Formats: sequence, structure tokens, C-alpha cells
Amino acid sequence: MIQVKASTGLVALLGHPVQHSLSPLMHNAAFAAGGQNLVYLAFDVKPGDLAAALAGLKALGFRGANVTVPHKEAIIPYLDAVDPVAARIGAVNTIVNEDRCLKGYNTDGSGFLRSLEEAGFDPAGKRAVILGAGGAARAVAFALATAGCGSLVLANRTPERATELAGALAGAGLPAPVVYRLGDAGMRSEVETADLVLNTTSLGMWPRVEETPLPPDWFRPGQWVYDLVYNPLETKFLAGARRRGCRVISGLDMLLYQGAAAFTLWTGREAPVAVMDRVLREAMGASSGGPAAGR
Ligand code: ATR
Repeated sequence: MIQVKASTGLVALLGHPVQHSLSPLMHNAAFAAGGQNLVYLAFDVKPGDLAAALAGLKALGFRGANVTVPHKEAIIPYLDAVDPVAARIGAVNTIVNEDRCLKGYNTDGSGFLRSLEEAGFDPAGKRAVILGAGGAARAVAFALATAGCGSLVLANRTPERATELAGALAGAGLPAPVVYRLGDAGMRSEVETADLVLNTTSLGMWPRVEETPLPPDWFRPGQWVYDLVYNPLETKFLAGARRRGCRVISGLDMLLYQGAAAFTLWTGREAPVAVMDRVLREAMGASSGGPAAGR
């Protein structure tokens, strides 16, 4: 337990809504375990109040912040500086306050890559299929390009968004991604031949746990299947993949490692990932079938 003193520093979560976020639990446990004199608090900030909230972080000397839905993109114009990786992705999920200069970073992409590395998957030269084309898909697609992924297929309910993302990836060192409408029959052979299949859509998230972006018989035994949804921990998508003999990764790993990277940005220290992982899994166990969600 952190002892809050006059000297205790503050880190904020800015989102709307934020009440079900697991980040306060994860980061306060990490600060306590890492001996950091910091406290993490969640703030429900409406879009119209974003500029005022940032002025408040500066005036009150916050160490930094996380940014979540719906502010990750809208916050960029209000920051004093933006890390080039975050600028390329077009989204910020972490802010560091250096002497009243608020600098934005994106740890979703780096956290995602670390989760792959920890699981034992190296994206270099591999074929990946990304389902979805929203903010999470963008961070993941740029991260895979950075890691030398061999080819990308993008599939989205609204194919125009996937085409737009494919255009944004031009120059990122990948062959031009092939785009499909989610569920198109032509996708089946792409899924079957992929090394990694990733769900970045919200399909299957509690309470609509019966939804899944793909029929499980499209999976090939031995391939890697990753669902960014972590509530439930094993979605219908992941359960189907596991039954087909795929290696599966849950979205809790990305939540963990984006948090670990943010911890390092605020403190300059390695994050206590074992503690953070335990706290997250305990919280998910306690709220299984409940509304734990968001960053
Ligand atoms: P995030 O930041 O989590 O990526 P987002 O930017 O709102 O959130 O993107 C949500 C993704 O889930 C999108 O790819 C969205 O598809 P559209 O671009 O067509 O909206 C996808 N998605 C959400 N609900 C869906 C549904 N019922 N069926 C299929 N795709 C869905």
C-alpha cells in the first residue's frame, strides 16, 4: 500500500468513461512494488474539457498521464511535444510532464510487440491478418511494420477505413496491405495461410460474448491467434482458435506491457511486470462476466 504524503507525485488516467478501468489497480500496485512515491488516479474527462484537464495536469505538477478512449487522437493538438512514433500512429496513450512540457507517447505499439516477444513470436518476415481498422489496429499495424513483418492483410466491417489505414502504412517498409470487408469469403485463404491472426475489433467483448469476427474452422493448427479483447480473458474467438490447436494470446498481455512501458516513461525504471500481471489477472478473475474494460 502506498503511503500518500505531501511529496507524493500524481499520474492521471484521462478518458470517458473510466470507471471500469484496470489501470489504477495495475499502476498503483506497480508504484508500491517499485518503491515509487506516486499515486495513479482515474478522471472522467468529457471531450470539451480536455484542454482544461491538461492545463490542470501542468498547474498541479502531475508526473504524467495515460490517455484512453475517446481522447487518444484528439489530445495531440493540445500537447507541447509528441514522440515521432506516436505522431506516425496518430494517437497518444501516455503523457510525461517534464518541467511543464507535456510530451505524448504511444506505448500500445511497443507494448504489443513486447507481448509477442514474451510469448515467443517474432513478426520478422511473417504474414499477419488484422481484423479491424480502428485506433488499436493502427497502433498494431505500425508496430508490425516496424518489426519487419513480411505482409499484412487488413479486414474491416467498413472496408474504407482499412483502405485508409493501408494508405497510411505506405512507406512503413511493408508491401501494400491487401484489404477485405470483414467476413468476405476471399479472406478464408488469407487467414489459413497467415502466421498471426489478430482481432482488434470489439466483437466478443463482454457482454456480447457470443460474437466472433471469424468462424473457428478458418484457423490452421499451429498458427498464432491474438485477441486484443481481454474481457472475457478467453473470448469465443480465442476459445475457437485454441480448440483448433492454435497458440493464443489474450489482450490482457497488451494491457500489461503498454502499462509497463508507460511506467518506465514516468519513472525511468523497469516495471515490476510480475506484480502488474498478478493484479490484472486477480481483477479479471474477480470480475469475470462483469464490466472491467478500457485502459
Ligand atoms: P479501438 O480504438 O479499440 O480500435 P475504434 O477505433 O472505435 O476502437 O475501432 C473499433 C473497431 O471495431 C473498428 O474496426 C470497427 O469496425 P468499423 O470501422 O466498421 O466501425 C470494429 N467493430 C466494432 N463493432 C463491430 C461490429 N459489430 N462488427 C464488426 N466490426 C466492429
